[in-house]
Amino acid sequence: MPRNERNRPTWDTEGLLHGDAKRAAVQDMFDQIASRYDLVNRIMTFRLDVRWRKVALRALGLAPGSVVLDLASGTGDMCIDLAHADLVPISVDLSYGMLHAGRSSAPRVQADILRLPVPDGSVDGVTCGFALRNLVDLDTFFRELHRVVRPGGRISLLDVGVPHNPLVRFGNGIYFGRIVPLIGGLLSDRAAYRYLPKSVAYLPPPATLVAMLQSAGFEHVVHRQLSGGLTQLLHATRTS
Ligand SMILES: C[S@@+](CC[C@H](N)C(=O)[O-])C[C@H]1O[C@@H](n2cnc3c(N)ncnc32)[C@H](O)[C@@H]1O
Repeated sequence: MPRNERNRPTWDTEGLLHGDAKRAAVQDMFDQIASRYDLVNRIMTFRLDVRWRKVALRALGLAPGSVVLDLASGTGDMCIDLAHADLVPISVDLSYGMLHAGRSSAPRVQADILRLPVPDGSVDGVTCGFALRNLVDLDTFFRELHRVVRPGGRISLLDVGVPHNPLVRFGNGIYFGRIVPLIGGLLSDRAAYRYLPKSVAYLPPPATLVAMLQSAGFEHVVHRQLSGGLTQLLHATRTS
């Protein structure tokens, strides 16, 4: 195949990218919106994101002093919460822009979280907020989590959800499909905030996510809907 053909982004019928093209587009997008990310996030979630992170942290249930990788850490909100809970966070993200805009004092690592520069079984836990749908291969990600977490370690993962209730789902669709791109356009980058509702299509249904974590080797896998399903939380243990 000619070189320019190989490098051309591959869009599917939903207008979504895949593979390396998706990873590069995601990295560019977060570099672009990093400086206004926190502001837009707080406004568009009515600060519910703060509460969702606290629930994820409680679900982690690790003892003080535990070392936790916060993957796709963005500007470091979860790292700040982890440090307040006397845990020892390490921030990992693909986007230099997001890492640069970070406000936590955790060590920061630029890496693709599908290939963590971390030895096997070396951390007590992993958190990851609102990034699953941005990844190019969830199976690889879940196997990578199982590799780096020690036996007995825990993971706690958040992402946007699809509410069960049809009315809430309809309202959520209008809000994320129309209002959020408007707010994002005014304060930051409209295209990036138009990607947000579309990107939900990358996420498999909850039962599939649970099955994927189990086949990666996790046990006690729990899926929870938060705020009527606006957000979903997955937590699990590596038992052996
Ligand atoms: C929606 S933001 C979430 C940031 C933060 N976790 C939060 O809860 O606010 C998604 C983050 O995932 C990061 N990301 C996307 N793909 C990644 C990858 N393959 N490896 C590392 N980080 C990635 C982006 O750079 C971005 O900072």
